[in-house]
Amino acid sequence: MNINDVKKIAILGAGMMGHQVGQLAAMNGYEVSMTDVDSGVVQKGLDTIKKNLQKFYVDKEKMSQADADAVIGRISAAKDLKTALNGAQMMIENVPEILDLKQQLFKEMDEICSPDVVLATNTSGMMITAIATLTKNPERVVGMHFFNPVTVMKLVEIIRGVKTSDEAYQVIIDISKKWGKETITVNDSPGFAVSRLFVVLINEAAKLVSEGICSVEDADKGCQLGLGHAMGPLRTCDLTNGMGVSVHALEYMREILGDEYNPAPMMKKKLLAGELGDWAGKGFYDHTQK
Ligand SMILES: NC(=O)c1ccc[n+]([C@@H]2O[C@H](COP(=O)([O-])OP(=O)(O)OC[C@H]3O[C@@H](n4cnc5c(N)ncnc54)[C@H](O)[C@@H]3O)[C@@H](O)[C@H]2O)c1
Repeated sequence: MNINDVKKIAILGAGMMGHQVGQLAAMNGYEVSMTDVDSGVVQKGLDTIKKNLQKFYVDKEKMSQADADAVIGRISAAKDLKTALNGAQMMIENVPEILDLKQQLFKEMDEICSPDVVLATNTSGMMITAIATLTKNPERVVGMHFFNPVTVMKLVEIIRGVKTSDEAYQVIIDISKKWGKETITVNDSPGFAVSRLFVVLINEAAKLVSEGICSVEDADKGCQLGLGHAMGPLRTCDLTNGMGVSVHALEYMREILGDEYNPAPMMKKKLLAGELGDWAGKGFYDHTQK
């Protein structure tokens, strides 16, 4: 399998990330078959893609109406996994960050499709080797970590599992470049490179605050004005309602990499109190007054 063989891409999980990855693939001329355990999510994803193409491309004269219609025309909703994978040379998985769930789905997909079909996962930090562990063909499993919003963010982090083949890896490299992305390649490890750097920064900022060394605002201001970050780590965590995701990522990293990844007690307390971030009304900041 090489990039020229790839014509149709199955998208498993059509939530926040899945529908955006489907849009990106269809905008680059690929036939896309999207499926989700909840068919309402696929329909919502299709409606969002349509709206976003209108707002960000057609209305801004970056795309003609005919081209936008053609993008939509390339995306179909599939009733189940088998239907989505029918005729696909590649699959990108976007289901929740639950290891058992991903392992079972990769086992199922491995049994459904021929061994040359490339199976990619958009996991934010679970080890690719672990996700592929129940498959008979782990060499075709590879990490393809996108960033939100998918059509805007330049980076795709590509992760090689212990058994990922050069061939599968090369397909993901080539397709990411064809889709206008920059890539970095990392070897398999919890949190890879980008998620690990990011949650460690959030964790360290939370520790600074709880040790009384600086305020939430100043931890963020320091990163913005001193390090040139677009947004501070604590503000970014709140914006994505990310308290739970960050604590769980740190705990997963601690399990494999050691105690230095222990989540700050302050973050665990906030998680227990439901203070997840903006949507919850409270996270590191109080959002109830907005
Ligand atoms: N949200 C982000 O910013 C972001 C960024 C990069 C990567 N990721 C990763 O992408 C993956 C998906 O995250 P998300 O934010 O899109 O989550 P989400 O909850 O918005 O979407 C997940 C979708 O998977 C579906 N699903 C659950 N079980 C399924 C099954 N058995 N078969 C088919 N579909 C099933 C759900 O119905 C849901 O629509 C996660 O691994 C996450 O870590 C997320």
